[in-house]
Amino acid sequence: MHDSYSIIGGVFNPDYSENLKFAKEIGLDETRVYEDYDKMIEEELKLDESKRMQVVSILTPNFLHYPMAKKLLENNFSVICEKPMTTTYEEALDLERIYKSKKLTFAVTYTYTGYPMIRQMKEMIKEGVIGDIQRVDLQYYQGWINPIIHDSNKRSETWRLQPDKSGISCCIGDIGTHAFDMLEYVTGMEVQELLSDLNYVYDDNPMDVDGTILIRFSDKIKGVIRASQIATGEENCFTVAIYGRKGGLKWQQENPNYLNHLSDSKPLQVLKPGHDYNSNFSKISAKLPPGHPEGMFDSMANIYNGVAREIRGEKEFDGEYPSLNDGLRGMLFIEKAVESHNNGNTWVKLK
Ligand SMILES: NC(=O)c1ccc[n+]([C@@H]2O[C@H](COP(=O)([O-])OP(=O)(O)OC[C@H]3O[C@@H](n4cnc5c(N)ncnc54)[C@H](O)[C@@H]3O)[C@@H](O)[C@H]2O)c1
Repeated sequence: MHDSYSIIGGVFNPDYSENLKFAKEIGLDETRVYEDYDKMIEEELKLDESKRMQVVSILTPNFLHYPMAKKLLENNFSVICEKPMTTTYEEALDLERIYKSKKLTFAVTYTYTGYPMIRQMKEMIKEGVIGDIQRVDLQYYQGWINPIIHDSNKRSETWRLQPDKSGISCCIGDIGTHAFDMLEYVTGMEVQELLSDLNYVYDDNPMDVDGTILIRFSDKIKGVIRASQIATGEENCFTVAIYGRKGGLKWQQENPNYLNHLSDSKPLQVLKPGHDYNSNFSKISAKLPPGHPEGMFDSMANIYNGVAREIRGEKEFDGEYPSLNDGLRGMLFIEKAVESHNNGNTWVKLK
């Protein structure tokens, strides 16, 4: 979308014939379509640097993120990794260790951080427009697991409900982690403690499909992350609300071009993308003039653009793409949310 990338090759499917079929569909040179990621790295390293792949996107089920990212980093390739970054916090720490010994770019695609009005929210909070934060409320409700969870056959066919493919959590790992990252992204603060109450619905289901998590930044700044994949009929109802002493900011993913600015004394103000009144960071995140709605693909493209801008030495703003540290914090959040629930809903520290 920003004309920064060309797909030059890859591994698109563990089944080689499907892999080739897809590569043909998108017009790729077959010599750059590999059997697996080991072969891809081995063969790409033999090419002259000017021809070699520069960045690799990891878009596979969760359990493959860590081995793929580890080997790519070890062989000096920059990575754009889907969330959750790994399946355990320990794996995430290992990636951090390797990353710190290299000069590479590593992004984790918390997609929603690319929206212009989220970036505007981040900048307004940083400038103190709503004053000191006192309450946060993030709700991420989906309903797609409802038709699956009540049928044990369907359950066993869904990789997200299998711990060996997905990690220790389904709902919190999949969408709770988006909410957690968003919270730290827009506030610029780190959550200190949490208490979680998860729902597995059936005793023989090992993966949470719903959860309510109390959040403390401090004993005076508190809030909640509510995430569910059994909120029947909900699509992608992600709401971010941050309240400060001077005002509140509220945004909803299903209407991403409206940022509500709430106040005690003034009528509701609705901010929209592309206008001069927005911050420069928000303005570079909208490609079209005001009144031409952009959406989820544009948001993801902004994250990819942030990576490209960093590689070209053009990155200007804090938060142009979610970092490896965001991925690491995401894994800590998932593990602590499950730990708190398993402890009988106790407060646990995030450190
Ligand atoms: N950022 C977001 O908003 C967002 C949205 C959806 C999914 N995701 C993440 O994307 C990842 C994939 O999820 P999905 O729903 O697209 O899953 P999916 O099952 O639809 O797709 C997985 C893809 O990985 C490929 N694959 C599997 N094993 C492979 C291997 N060994 N080598 C190469 N390719 C292989 C499959 O062929 C398939 O194309 C997950 O980590 C998920 O959490 C992120």
